[in-house]
Amino acid sequence: MFLKTVRLQLRFLVPLMVTLVVAASLAVPVMDQVTLRWFSRDLNSRGLLVANALSDSVSEAVAAGRTARLRPLFERAEQDERLFAIGLCSVDGQLLERTQGFPRTLTCPGAEDISRKAEPSLPLVSGTVHVGVHDVMGQALVAGTDAPLDAQADAPPVRMARLVLLHDMSFIERRSQDTRRYLIGLIAGLGLVIALITVVVAQLSWRGWVKGVRAILRGEGLLSPLIPAPELAPFAAELRARLRDMEDEFRRSQGPETGWSAERLRTLLQTQLSGAQVIVVSNREPYIHERTADGVVVKRPASGLVTAVEPVMRACSGTWVAHGSGSADRDVVDAADRVLVPPGEQDYWLRRVWLTPEEEQGYYYGFANEGMWPLCHVAHVRPVFRESDWEAYRAVNQRFADAVVAEARGEDPVVLVQDYHFALLPAMVREKLPQATILTFWHIPWPNPESFGICPWRREILQGMLGSTILGFHTRFHCKNFIETVDRYLEARIEHEHSTIAFQEKETLVESYPISIEWPAEAEISAWAPVAECRRRVVERLGLPQDACIAVGVDRFDYTKGILERLNAVERLLEKWPAWVGRFVLVQVAAPTRSALDEYRSFQERVQRIAERINLRFGRPGYKPVHLLAQHHEHDAVTELFRAADVCVVTSLHDGMNLVCKEFVAARDDLQGVLVLSRFAGAARELPEALVVNPYHVEETADALNRAATMPAAEQRERMASLRSTVREFNVFRWAGRMLADAGRWRLRSRIEARVRRHQNG
Ligand code: F6P
Repeated sequence: MFLKTVRLQLRFLVPLMVTLVVAASLAVPVMDQVTLRWFSRDLNSRGLLVANALSDSVSEAVAAGRTARLRPLFERAEQDERLFAIGLCSVDGQLLERTQGFPRTLTCPGAEDISRKAEPSLPLVSGTVHVGVHDVMGQALVAGTDAPLDAQADAPPVRMARLVLLHDMSFIERRSQDTRRYLIGLIAGLGLVIALITVVVAQLSWRGWVKGVRAILRGEGLLSPLIPAPELAPFAAELRARLRDMEDEFRRSQGPETGWSAERLRTLLQTQLSGAQVIVVSNREPYIHERTADGVVVKRPASGLVTAVEPVMRACSGTWVAHGSGSADRDVVDAADRVLVPPGEQDYWLRRVWLTPEEEQGYYYGFANEGMWPLCHVAHVRPVFRESDWEAYRAVNQRFADAVVAEARGEDPVVLVQDYHFALLPAMVREKLPQATILTFWHIPWPNPESFGICPWRREILQGMLGSTILGFHTRFHCKNFIETVDRYLEARIEHEHSTIAFQEKETLVESYPISIEWPAEAEISAWAPVAECRRRVVERLGLPQDACIAVGVDRFDYTKGILERLNAVERLLEKWPAWVGRFVLVQVAAPTRSALDEYRSFQERVQRIAERINLRFGRPGYKPVHLLAQHHEHDAVTELFRAADVCVVTSLHDGMNLVCKEFVAARDDLQGVLVLSRFAGAARELPEALVVNPYHVEETADALNRAATMPAAEQRERMASLRSTVREFNVFRWAGRMLADAGRWRLRSRIEARVRRHQNG
């Protein structure tokens, strides 16, 4: 770097030096000539003075013809250090008298010739002398007397003789040399000062720029340059715009990404986020410790969120903050309410937050599940908004935000906020950790502005969410709804081109990140029982006919899942194609959920009643068309069911993504089985090889069930192979990876912007 700076400075210094040398070489001779002329003029005037002083004595002596008596006078005059010699010439050019130093070779006419030159000098062995010839005027006398020759007293004086004065010029030489030395010294000194200033300023500016660029490249900006560079100000806005464009270009150039794995996600975290601490916050915890008669057991909840985020956490380590809802949760945590999970593997910390029954009622059952859930799903269940629930929701959001802040080891962790339980938390964390990168993922749909307008605290919710750095939804459609909602209810600046919202000086990127599952590892696949074996076990366990066509549905027992519509379609299928009676079976796993809520209880009862009605109507000894398994099933049991099935039915009335369909696809390495999928689930956009249906349309769904049940094996293989390649590629590591990569770019950009701002502010 030093060499580069020197080279840069030389570009300026060399021309400067050349100019100074040329200026000096021109100035010195001119200066010499000028000083010589000054001194010559000076010597002439001095000569004239001397001549005037001597003129009376000289004219008398000449008139009297006694010039010899002038010699002592001349010698006295010569004591002046500059007067070298004196000669006295007669009017007709004869040398009458001369002092000792007067050169013998110099005649009176010769002296006159020299004195008329521009530079009247004569080189002698002892040095150069200046030659000046001055007239001596006076009255001529009568020989041998003091009487004037001219009788008239006021007759004008006549030239009596000429004085030749030789002045020593060595002092002029000395002075010229001194002047030359001073001049060269002055020019050299000036050059040195200019060069020094240039070098110092260039060094500092260069260092500032280099430091700036380095920090930009590192994505930092922690060190201010030595000297603020106000010259950057005009470029700041342009730089920002260019960065954005580059980011967009980069995104487009990436195209479809392949090969996302836990390893790649870890590498991304290390490289693009400099190994930042990852903190996940969600309501539902990934592992629940329950007290049972056999001791403490660990359960995995039925939650799409947990299915997706848990593998990401295993890959990234860090801390997961969640509600400790298990009966034995408190028994296994340390003094800081933390426990290492997964049990036996201990990849990351689970930090549990405790809620009182009142808090859980108001925040979770009340505001989150009676308010936000139906509000966002628009599934024909009215949202209920109570002031007390809102208060609890706000207080619990603050509790979780405080827990996140307490878990943060530095000032800029990456915080992954999950779902509608924590709409206020991003702004609360942002307040305490302004440097944090907050990624909020909304796992459920986002309604249009009119529907969202029902919420009395719509502005507070939007403001809370806009505390996020990045706000993720499953689909572009939900992003669009969110942006339009903000546009309707807040004073914010929206940039549609970049999908960003600037609110209160803070920018949020709103982007779609379709969530997915972890593709099963080889070890897991090899542990699976063969498909035929799975089928045999399920048939045996549920007492199904040997030739049964098995359709499965696996859901939480939730009104948004379209379980009623599914039952209606099965009923219609049996009506329309009676040949299926005795053979077509729907095995519906419905994991109990939110049963404390009336809406859920009455829904679950209604489903049970309809299932019973269908069984009554079409069942017979040894055959029950609907098997409603209203209990939680562990992952292995669900996989066995998927592998045993001919058809998987997902008929959500509205679903952010739905991961059940992706798990079914992942389980079918035999490339058989048909997926019937609701067009209102986000997954329908990614999986068009499924039989996509409108679950509200009973006839259409029944037809799809029939088509699935009769689909030739070759067509099943073709569809399933394509579905599997999509799910395998678009897995959960890609979901998290894309978000974290965007976060990395965003962090880099905000550091550059902070740096540019520092430059602007000087
Ligand atoms: O669909 C959004 C979601 O958060 C899922 O990820 C999860 O399955 C469910 O809602 C939450 O269920 P619960 O209320 O039982 O945690």
